[in-house]
Amino acid sequence: MRTITRLVSEPINARIGSRVFNDKLELLGGALASDILALLEARGVLVFPGIGFTEAEQVVFTHMLGTPAAEGRDGRVVTRVSLDARENPEAAAFLKGSLYWHIDGTNSDVPIRASLLSCKVPAARGGNTGFCNTYAAWEDLPLAEKAVCDGRRVVHAPWASLAYYDPEPRLQTLRAMQALGEKELPLVWNHASGRKSLILGCTARNVVGLDYKESAALLAGLREWATGPTFSYSHAWRAGDLVMWDNTGTMHRAEAYDPLCGRLMIRTKLEGEEAFA
Ligand SMILES: [Fe+2]
Repeated sequence: MRTITRLVSEPINARIGSRVFNDKLELLGGALASDILALLEARGVLVFPGIGFTEAEQVVFTHMLGTPAAEGRDGRVVTRVSLDARENPEAAAFLKGSLYWHIDGTNSDVPIRASLLSCKVPAARGGNTGFCNTYAAWEDLPLAEKAVCDGRRVVHAPWASLAYYDPEPRLQTLRAMQALGEKELPLVWNHASGRKSLILGCTARNVVGLDYKESAALLAGLREWATGPTFSYSHAWRAGDLVMWDNTGTMHRAEAYDPLCGRLMIRTKLEGEEAFA
């Protein structure tokens, strides 16, 4: 008799996250791919506790779910994520921005669909990854506040995130970040599915048409709402965990840790399929 593999999961909390308990063989078998993607879209974040994928298995799993996004100009699809400059010299400075709530790819037309992060070495202390569900945050927003947001546009710029970790940058540093460009995006993303999510994060520079004070207050208020306990989840890593998140319906951030503690993560990404709209 043929055995049918089913996805086995439980919710983490009411508005975000599910843990998936299928084993490695079932996950790599391919039969669960569409169920995994549907659960990801519904829950924002999927945790595969202690699944222990090797780097090669993570690449196979990523391929199974879609098209892996290239991480560098050389076409590689795997990145070693570390704040330690000895491990990752170019990225160590840039990754400081990842300590603040953000969506990946606000500077591109089509942001990546999802990221998969696995833990090789957890931080000795701290180093959780935080997630919040921006679909759920929009859905539960009071109607009067929805009316304030609908139709608004926001300028996103990588250089806006510099203020979070280098508030007195050298002019050369500021100019280099400004050269990465900026992009006007809707505050509320109207997805092809009919669902809506908020587009926020540390790249959000200003709300178009509002003065600086009101713009800052609107963005801070929405961030506070979306990243509050109802819509967020902080994953405490153990070696072997894999976490995957829907970059089009969540924000994420790394939580502080000692850059020299040896924390090492492996990241792959799924190519985007939907433009900001
Ligand atoms: Fe990120």
